[in-house]
Amino acid sequence: MAKIVNSWNDWDPLKRVIVGRCDNSVIPPEEPATSEKVPVDSEMRGMWGLRPLATVERGNECLENLVKILEDRGVVVDRPTPLQWNQAIGTPDFRNDSMMTCMPPRDILLTIGSEIMASANSFRCRYFEYLAYWPLMKQYFDEDPEFKWTQAPRPRLTDASYKHNYYDEKISLEERLVRTANKDFVTTEVEPMWDAADVMRMGKDLFIQHGLTTNRTAMDWFQRYYPEYRVHAVNFPGDPYPIHIDATFVPLRPGLIINNPHRKLPEEQRAIFEANDWQIVEAAQPAHDEPPALCYSSVWLSMNCLVLDPKTVIVEASEVYQQEQMDKLGMNVIPCDLRDAYPFGGGLHCSTADVYREGECLDYFP
Ligand code: NVA
Repeated sequence: MAKIVNSWNDWDPLKRVIVGRCDNSVIPPEEPATSEKVPVDSEMRGMWGLRPLATVERGNECLENLVKILEDRGVVVDRPTPLQWNQAIGTPDFRNDSMMTCMPPRDILLTIGSEIMASANSFRCRYFEYLAYWPLMKQYFDEDPEFKWTQAPRPRLTDASYKHNYYDEKISLEERLVRTANKDFVTTEVEPMWDAADVMRMGKDLFIQHGLTTNRTAMDWFQRYYPEYRVHAVNFPGDPYPIHIDATFVPLRPGLIINNPHRKLPEEQRAIFEANDWQIVEAAQPAHDEPPALCYSSVWLSMNCLVLDPKTVIVEASEVYQQEQMDKLGMNVIPCDLRDAYPFGGGLHCSTADVYREGECLDYFP
């Protein structure tokens, strides 16, 4: 039996990966933590329901572009099994009128070594999203005797998990930034809550963004679950909607990270990188002034690239400035037309979850 699951970082040579699917995707109804996370000027405020079929088809077409690039390079691509996401759900603690999607996988699955763990997301609408990946988990479990199939402690997501009326809609951008800088977020600390896309894996070190989707208790939980790793809480005060680290702080290879110039890592948190001769470079400007329609994310999905190995990276095809910068940084750039998949939950990194990268667990910050 072969080893199927192994990944310690975002840059070692990629051999097997999960790519999401847009089928049956829903804009979820408002719930305690979602309105705080949808920008006030977003056209998505107050609307919910199945996404238009034509956009789903186009999103899937974009994901097929990515699958083709990967397969042409010999990477094995696995796909989730979408559910009928527009079903109401319930647990003993809450009811929700709908689920969301199985895009993007990066939010749900965290691969560390031979373990893939389903996360403890704070959105109620994402509570059952992991089910789309369970057929794959079972396959890996059957085929790889070392695969550790794990589910993080499930949050209850009662009303106690959220600060209610945390953001009054009239709150200014400046006030949001003050709260972000003070690490005052919409979730409470009654239980660990985290999205896998807030975790940046670097061998022995895990850098985890404290923000709207991941709380402090999650950091404590990670450190106790992985006592042999160093867990670092990071935050980016310039981001009024801090959700997921991969359009903010993105490693390209050992020693090199690109950082969103509007969301700089604070000085004291840079120390560990500087002490170990890592270079933190400001990312190039996005090519677009606005995200596509019905998209949760910012234009900084320009940075949300998929590194195939320390010399090769896939960048969104229209992001010409980001491509140019990667090229200057010594990377071979493969463009991929993916922008119309952004509304479903993100860019190239978001749309994937690592299954196998060659390499082992190294200490990059000795
Ligand atoms: N919340 C981030 C996207 C993360 C993939 C942004 O909107 O820039």
